[in-house]
Order: sequence, then structure tokens, then C-alpha cells
Amino acid sequence: MIRVNEHYAKLQSSYLFSEIAKRVKAYQAEHPDKRILRLGIGDVTEPLPPACVAALHQAVDEMASRSSFRGYGPEQGYDFLREAIARNDFQARGAEITPQEIFVSDGAKCDTANIQELFTDKLTLAIPDPVYPVYVDTNVMAGRTGKCVKGRYKGLVYLDSTESNGFVPDLPEQPVDLIYLCFPNNPTGATATREQLAAWVRYARENRALILFDAAYEAFIRDPALPHSIYEIEGARDVAIEFRSFSKTAGFTGTRCAYTVVPTSTMAYTKKGEPVALNPMWNRRHTTKFNGVAYPVQRAAEAVYSAEGQAQTRALTDFYLGNAARIRAAFTELGYSLTGGENSPYIWVNVGKDSWKFFDKLLKRAQVVTTPGAGFGRCGQGYIRISAFNSRENVEEAMTRLRKVLK
Ligand SMILES: Cc1ncc(COP(=O)(O)O)c(C=O)c1O
Repeated sequence: MIRVNEHYAKLQSSYLFSEIAKRVKAYQAEHPDKRILRLGIGDVTEPLPPACVAALHQAVDEMASRSSFRGYGPEQGYDFLREAIARNDFQARGAEITPQEIFVSDGAKCDTANIQELFTDKLTLAIPDPVYPVYVDTNVMAGRTGKCVKGRYKGLVYLDSTESNGFVPDLPEQPVDLIYLCFPNNPTGATATREQLAAWVRYARENRALILFDAAYEAFIRDPALPHSIYEIEGARDVAIEFRSFSKTAGFTGTRCAYTVVPTSTMAYTKKGEPVALNPMWNRRHTTKFNGVAYPVQRAAEAVYSAEGQAQTRALTDFYLGNAARIRAAFTELGYSLTGGENSPYIWVNVGKDSWKFFDKLLKRAQVVTTPGAGFGRCGQGYIRISAFNSRENVEEAMTRLRKVLK
């Protein structure tokens, strides 16, 4: 008898974005004449930077000729890309990361999920609340939690991110083994200072824990005092894995390229407490289960690091931050307290009442779609997330409508 993975049955049935889509579809069916503005899902709207497009074209032409055609590439990524990443994203910031510690992939979503394979299923897992739902759901699927009771899975240690701690969770009171952190944060848009990250690194070192640091929104950081990588913190190399993505940095959500950094000094432990290096384990997993990112896509990612690519991706993220500034201004003027939107494309607004009710109000009265904070965890109740990924015209129109409805 073939048995199913019954842990799937613990998953909450309505995934946040499908519930939103259902409500929007029902509203649109009843009001086909209304133009709905979507400030919900965090997908980019602007086209690829010209430097990436040129690199893609050139690489496709190479694939069209026998002399320059390429078949399977190295599973970990081509050296040209791994070297550009190590030099620009880490060494230039004083973080000693080498190309051999970089694993190119097709997405930070899959990487943050797949990395769990390296760990035992018996561990204490710390998850921020609110959180990018992928971290929780993939651990539920892997059987690392009990049932969901009143919106929280048994067996997880939830790290509350609230107004009182500036949406940067405090260290857990009990020892934990694996910690997910994401800065700049999705959904709150909050950022962590050097001192805050240093406290987490210290905690991980003292407890022989591991931090999974998701820096998918690093390119939106403008405050020069904020760290872009956890490896800017002394000692982090031994206790942290970092995830990055070209999705939001360079508009690659549909092109697909990301990478994971597993330093050679990062350890996990056997039952007896013997250290085991994670870099060779991830290398083994990657080479066994993954066959590399398309050559033209890796060339397009490499182009992000050219002089033109740097200027163009900066302009791209500046554009979305300009949208974020308009959203912040509108809600601040309307008297709401909020966070995010300054070093992040997300704005987290305290709406002072049930998130889904507020979501419905904005949908029905302003035809503006947001994301109810409650969908990201219990601490998200009373908040909505607004995404700055949109055209300027749509953002401005949405803010004009909201000013009328909420004043
Ligand atoms: C925090 C976070 N990590 C990872 C991802 C996924 O990135 P990718 O497109 O590289 O899979 C997202 C996408 O929204 C995200 O918000």
C-alpha cells in the first residue's frame, strides 16, 4: 500500500494568496466595470534591465552556434557568476566569502525550503511571526511540527515581531536549533541593525544553533549603517547560511536566478555532538538533485554586476522605493502608524482592526487589493501589507482612492 505523507494534512487549507485571489475574483465577477488595483502580491512590474537583456540575447546566440554551444553546466553555477557574486556582494563589503561557498540556483523559495534536508527532523525550530509562509509550510510538510491549533503549529517556537520590539524579534527564552531570519523583512519591511544581528550571531554561537538568513530584499537597503549580509557580522560565517535572489534586485521573478551561501566553516552536529561541515553536504545535495540554472540566465545575472547593470538595478529599486515613499506618505497623512518602505519594498500598516475586514473594505470601497497581515501569522492580525511593486500611475491612483475612502 502506498502511503501518503500525512503531514500535508496539517497544512492550513487556504494559502494566503489563493484566498485573496478568490475574494478578488468574486468581487470582480459582481462588478465587471470596476478597475481593480493590485498592491497585494510582491511581484515586480518593470521589465528586465537593458544590460541583462543584452547579456541574455548574446548568450542565446552563443547557444545557436556549435562552437559556443553549452550543454550541462556546473550544478553549483558557472565560475563567472560565482566569482562576480563573491567579489561584489560580499568581499566589497568586507565579508570574506569565496566563490566555492556560493551555490547558484533557480530561486530563494526553493533554497529556503530545500536546505532543511541537511538537518534532522528532530530539532527545535524558531520562526518569526509574522513570516514569509514558505518557511513554516515546508517544515510542516517535512513533519517538523505538530497540528495547527488556533493559527499556530505545535512544536514551533514563534518569535513575535511587534511594534514593541520594532518588528525585530527578541532572542528566544529557550534554546533553539534552527532560526529563520529575514531582513529587510517580508512582510513587515523592517530592517535589523548590525547590533541586532550580532546578538543573533552570538546566540547561535553559544547554543550551537544555525541561522537561515534570507536577504532577498537586500538591494532595497539605502541606510549606509545597515548590514546587507549577515557575514558583515563577525563570527557569522560559522553559524549562518544566507539566501539571496535576483528576483527583486533585477526583476528576475520570471527569469529565475538566486543563490545560497554556505561558508566552509558553517557546522551542524551529529547526535554525539561532532561537528559536520554543511558546505560539502549542500554541494552533494545540489549536485545530486539539481542540474544548474540556464546558461543565458546566468549570463543575465552576471550582467547585474557590470557598471551599467549596477546603475540600472539601482534605478529599478529606486523606482519601487519611490512608490513606497508615496504609500508611506498617504497612510501617514491619514493618521496610520506604519513601518517599512524606506529600505524595503513593503509597507506594514497598523489598521487597528481585523486585517481581513480592512482588506475587504479596501477591495469593495476603493478597489485596491492589499495583503491582510493575519495571513502571515498571529502577530500580523491588525495589519495589512502593501507592496510597492507596481507602476507609478497605479500607486498614485490607489493612494488617491484610499485618501477618499479612509479620510
Ligand atoms: C522573503 C522571501 N524570500 C524568498 C522569496 C522568493 O524568491 P525567489 O523568487 O528567488 O524564489 C520571496 C519572494 O517573494 C520572499 O519574499
